[in-house]
Amino acid sequence: MKSFKKDNRELKILDNANVCFENGKIYAIVGESGAGKSTLLNCISLVEKLDDGKIFYKDKDITNIKEKEICNYRKNVGFIFQNYYLDEYLTALENVMVPLLLTDMIIEECRDKAMKQLENVGLKDRMNHYPRELSGGEQQRVAIARALVRNPQIILADEPTGNLDEKNEKNILELIKQIDKKDKCIIIVTHSSKIKKIADVVLEIKQGKLMILSE
Ligand SMILES: Nc1ncnc2c1ncn2[C@@H]1O[C@H](COP(=O)(O)OP(=O)(O)O)[C@@H](O)[C@H]1O
Ligand SMILES: [Mg+2]
Repeated sequence: MKSFKKDNRELKILDNANVCFENGKIYAIVGESGAGKSTLLNCISLVEKLDDGKIFYKDKDITNIKEKEICNYRKNVGFIFQNYYLDEYLTALENVMVPLLLTDMIIEECRDKAMKQLENVGLKDRMNHYPRELSGGEQQRVAIARALVRNPQIILADEPTGNLDEKNEKNILELIKQIDKKDKCIIIVTHSSKIKKIADVVLEIKQGKLMILSE
């Protein structure tokens, strides 16, 4: 269960979110604005703490793990947001290098890996561009490269095509399709019917409950 307290009122957001996300599958989560979709992703990434209930990762209860363990857990998680959230003072390449610089990898290797990842998303010739020198679709591709560069097991995407036109939505869709999902769990909050189509499971959050619409 997840609720927010505001002005002495308790807002119950998620009340019955019983679900097991499995490896090898793409999940699409739909629901009205304000339904609690972002909150659910924040609970999965441990950005938000549950008031009640538990969250497990590989059979381990991670509901109340400490800061250091949270950092370790997040090494397995890649995030993609609607607004890209790139660092505006870093180039595309540097943005993608950031997650690698947090490991003990040497800088040359970080740069090589980040370059390869940017090539994979079709941005070889945009590496030294700053976010403001990139289109929205390109910025999202950089964000995807950054999310994937450490080969995370869990990929969380919060309306990744929400700001994009149809052509760029297609580009992003292709990138998602390219991810080798065998050992990954991909959870995408989305309104895109195209993304829903490639999902193995579609879930809806409604009145705090998480329901399976199709699988
Ligand atoms: N930190 C917060 N404090 C109080 N209320 C919040 C907070 N974060 C989100 N909410 C409320 O929780 C509800 C769900 O938000 P959110 O998960 O962002 O919805 P969605 O992503 O489905 O549009 C909204 O009604 C929002 O106002
Ligand atoms: Mg949201």
